[in-house]
Amino acid sequence: MFSFAKKDNQLNSSICNYNQQYGAGLKFPEGFLWGAASSAHQTEGNNTNSDWWAWENSREREAELRAKGLDPEEYKSGMATDGFNRYDEDFALANMLKHTATRISIEWARIEPKEGQFNEQAFMHYEKVLQSAKFYGLKTFVTLHHFTNPLWFAKKGGFEKTENVEDFVRYAEKVAERLNEYTDFWLTINEPQIYASMSFLQGIFPPQKKNPLLAYRVAKNLVLAHNLSVPKMKFFSHSPISMAFHLADVVANTKFSQIPAKLADYFSNEYFLKHTIKFCDFIGVNYYFHHHIGWLGGRRKSLSHHIETDLGWGVHPEGLEKVLLKLKKYKKPIYITENGLADKQDLKREKFIEDHLFYAHKAILAGVDLRGYLYWSLTDNFEWEKGFAPRFGLVEIDREDLLKRRVRFSAIKYAEICDNNELITDN
Ligand code: BGC
Repeated sequence: MFSFAKKDNQLNSSICNYNQQYGAGLKFPEGFLWGAASSAHQTEGNNTNSDWWAWENSREREAELRAKGLDPEEYKSGMATDGFNRYDEDFALANMLKHTATRISIEWARIEPKEGQFNEQAFMHYEKVLQSAKFYGLKTFVTLHHFTNPLWFAKKGGFEKTENVEDFVRYAEKVAERLNEYTDFWLTINEPQIYASMSFLQGIFPPQKKNPLLAYRVAKNLVLAHNLSVPKMKFFSHSPISMAFHLADVVANTKFSQIPAKLADYFSNEYFLKHTIKFCDFIGVNYYFHHHIGWLGGRRKSLSHHIETDLGWGVHPEGLEKVLLKLKKYKKPIYITENGLADKQDLKREKFIEDHLFYAHKAILAGVDLRGYLYWSLTDNFEWEKGFAPRFGLVEIDREDLLKRRVRFSAIKYAEICDNNELITDN
């Protein structure tokens, strides 16, 4: 196992104790799914009919980037990874890397380019994509909304308006009808809390609004969109449905920040679960963060010994166990639908995955019904407002050389875990 210069003593001694109890090989339950996740806009390329494309290419955005001394071209999704054409190659790689599952998203802007008009070619395209995943033996997790919207939907106010929710429901129903044969798991909306907050509270994602009341209204409408879609989708598909919940490990910095920490925990973790759980057959968990909350806001770093990713995000694998244990009360199967890091040099990825799996396994032994793990992401891709610089992929995309795929060392180590359904710890 890879070790860091800065030794992670707490984790090592915890692994040691654990091994004495359970042995060095941590077996995962039979049938546990292994794989990686991605989304349409971040990989497909040429998603020209979406609000993100319009924003990336707008004069305002270009000017904003130039003013910061940045090159706007680096912040346009453009061809992304050309996943629209190279999906077969990517699934073949996933298969070679011993994955048994994949998570992709369907691009609403392609399926319904004009309001109420569904595009048959787009459906046929996604049928081929999902058939290819099946050909390579992958169970499919299909997300319907991963941050992007069709332009027409954004123009009429998107999820800001409750009356527009029915547009999403119609789309969800149609996709369930057309793609049910190839979809094993549905995820209606990816990280509703992140979408509502980044687009309507923090003003980072389009439409870059900063309005707490609006963000709250969007949050409510996303809940409604999920809850109204599920019964309609179930008419056509028996596959289990969830949202992909962004769940963080939130702690108070001091005893004086207990209240803000509780509020942050409620809005970032509890709110969406509480209001949609009745309409979820399983729980999709995206885990990245450990939040320390003080009176004047929080930070994403722990004060402890942990390392940071290329984006400065503190790595805190213990938090995954805490997050999973809290979900036990819902008595639903759980899949980790995202967990990953930006690590261009691939120096930290192997240990990152192993440590998170160590804590996921602990949660399983404590009775959590965890059934799968999807690393974010299969390949490097378009990291939203941060452009192409952050590298999350198990597979590197060479942007200087025809978007060639190069398998990273950590991907091979992860493949061993997937293949054996077991994590070998060496302490
Ligand atoms: C999102 C992904 C994103 C990843 C890394 C998740 O919150 O679902 O789209 O690329 O985080 O930032």
